[in-house]
Amino acid sequence: MKLGFVGLGAMGQLIVPQLMTAGHQVTGWNRSRDKAAPLIKAGMRWADTPRGVAEQSEIVFSIVTDAKAVRSVALGPDGIVSGIGKGCIFIDMSTIEPEESRAVAEEFEKAGAIMLDGPLSGSPVTVKAGNASIMIGGDEEAYERVKPVLLAIGPKVTRIGGNGLACQMKIAVNLLLMVEVVCFGEAVALAEKGGVERAVALDAILKSVAASPVLGYRGPFILEGNMPKVPLADVTLQQKDMLLALNLGRRLGSPVPLAAAANEMMNACRGLGIDANDFVVAHQVYRRLGGQA
Ligand SMILES: NC(=O)c1ccc[n+]([C@@H]2O[C@H](COP(=O)([O-])OP(=O)(O)OC[C@H]3O[C@@H](n4cnc5c(N)ncnc54)[C@H](OP(=O)(O)O)[C@@H]3O)[C@@H](O)[C@H]2O)c1
Repeated sequence: MKLGFVGLGAMGQLIVPQLMTAGHQVTGWNRSRDKAAPLIKAGMRWADTPRGVAEQSEIVFSIVTDAKAVRSVALGPDGIVSGIGKGCIFIDMSTIEPEESRAVAEEFEKAGAIMLDGPLSGSPVTVKAGNASIMIGGDEEAYERVKPVLLAIGPKVTRIGGNGLACQMKIAVNLLLMVEVVCFGEAVALAEKGGVERAVALDAILKSVAASPVLGYRGPFILEGNMPKVPLADVTLQQKDMLLALNLGRRLGSPVPLAAAANEMMNACRGLGIDANDFVVAHQVYRRLGGQA
């Protein structure tokens, strides 16, 4: 199929090659063109605007930072909506507020096109391994049309419900993930303070029933010298999702006290100047609070 892809950051750069490997023709755009260079070399076509991408595609994807960025690439001057064909489908994979996603979907409906929210659960590690999970919100028939294409990105594709509900679900999933990783730091720091070596504590947790895929690939980062130079998700990117959870909790009247705690730990990372790291760095905050070097 002729696919379009807008947003070639950490996630987009990994998803596009998978779509091309599956035999699709991909036309892409990114605000900073330099990030597209390796993909162009690998066969991706370049368009000068998101509109240009949409004009050449049956299905257009986007994955950008936040709702402001989605509005800009989807609805801004030369945005996707101005180039998309009637009956064509726009799938936004960014993690954004459900109501923002619904508002953008309304604009696509007015243009005779269909928008689905399609946030993805998984880090660059999971995406590279072809194991990401994709949640879809929006029209069921459109979902059935795009499903074979989505399966090229990851084997777990699920329709959650109507527009915005996949974003709603993704925020809930990330609340769980974030609390789990932050609590992991708390647990390791507690074990260390009592005299257990960090590597031993890590190994014991990863062999226990509390182990999980995210702890499996992130846990080793907290070992001496193992923190990746390019974080899978840094403190700012991950904290965005806790702020989404806090806002949703307030708006819906559903308490999220653990989101508040995880968010405060991200503030502490910021205060200590370690926020350029992957957010598993919260472990260091616990160590410092507990008087460990
Ligand atoms: N990293 C993860 O583990 C992960 C996992 C699942 C979901 N997500 C979600 O996926 C989305 C993207 O994450 P990422 O890790 O790919 O982030 P990233 O590496 O920081 O890339 C962000 C992308 O958004 C673009 N962008 C930001 N503001 C823009 C604007 N105003 N107009 C146009 N483009 C703009 C950036 O363009 P430039 O290159 O020009 O800056 C870049 O392409 C986020 O919503 C994130 O929450 C991330």
